[in-house]
Amino acid sequence: MNELREPKFADEGGSDYEVYIRTDELLALQPEPDTWKHRDELLFTVVHQSSELWLKLAVAEIDHALLNIAQEKIQAACRYLARARDCIHYTTSQLPMLEKMTPWDYQHVRTALGHGSGFDSPGFRNLRISLKNLVDSMRGALAGANLTLEELYLSVDENEALYSLAELLVDLDEELMIWRSVHVKVIERTIGGTVSGTQGTPVEVVRNLRDRSIMDELWEVRDDLTGRADRELATD
Ligand code: HEM
Repeated sequence: MNELREPKFADEGGSDYEVYIRTDELLALQPEPDTWKHRDELLFTVVHQSSELWLKLAVAEIDHALLNIAQEKIQAACRYLARARDCIHYTTSQLPMLEKMTPWDYQHVRTALGHGSGFDSPGFRNLRISLKNLVDSMRGALAGANLTLEELYLSVDENEALYSLAELLVDLDEELMIWRSVHVKVIERTIGGTVSGTQGTPVEVVRNLRDRSIMDELWEVRDDLTGRADRELATD
């Protein structure tokens, strides 16, 4: 008999995989067919629930990166921030699945949502808090190194780790802008571009949030460098 095939948590019911991953509870979290207003409620719920899970992981990784920054372990922080960036990327990559619902079918799904809105997403709410802390921590690291952002971008060879940290903030910011951009297109394809959401927010408002940045200076420094180059570097 192969002992490895024997479950270790047999008294808890199911295989070790089912017990540890808690598949029974997880797979009971979607609306059952007998309650559906439309069969696409399953697609809609799976995309939203998995987004919440990826965002939960993103927040945990950013919070762990913050601990590392506080201990001046910048390279380690970068490793966790790269994971968070990928988490946001995965939430974006699953958004187009929602466009596989026909606009009219979605109108039926929508009747099941009440006043539910993405504005109340715990994943995004917690992400906003963690990103705000990350920006504070980036500013603190710059102050600790006695550098402006422009000075950092002009001295990358001497400040490699801090530069990588700054660029990971840009990565996270850009991933969020891409998410918002794809999200707006999903909205426009599904309910239209001049209507309002389940909480009454005009789509126009969501469209205007697309390019909001977590730290404007990270983008402005590129303008500053171009201005400096115009003044200092000769071009033929
Ligand atoms: C058919 C798919 C979707 C539609 C039609 C849709 C529609 C909307 C609308 C109309 C709003 C404006 C607020 C309101 O509801 O009144 C909104 C906001 C929002 N939605 Fe969605 N949404 C969809 C999918 C998703 C998914 C998968 C997520 C991921 C959790 C999400 C997260 C958000 C967030 C975070 C906001 C706040 C605005 C922002 O931060 O950009 N939405 N959505």
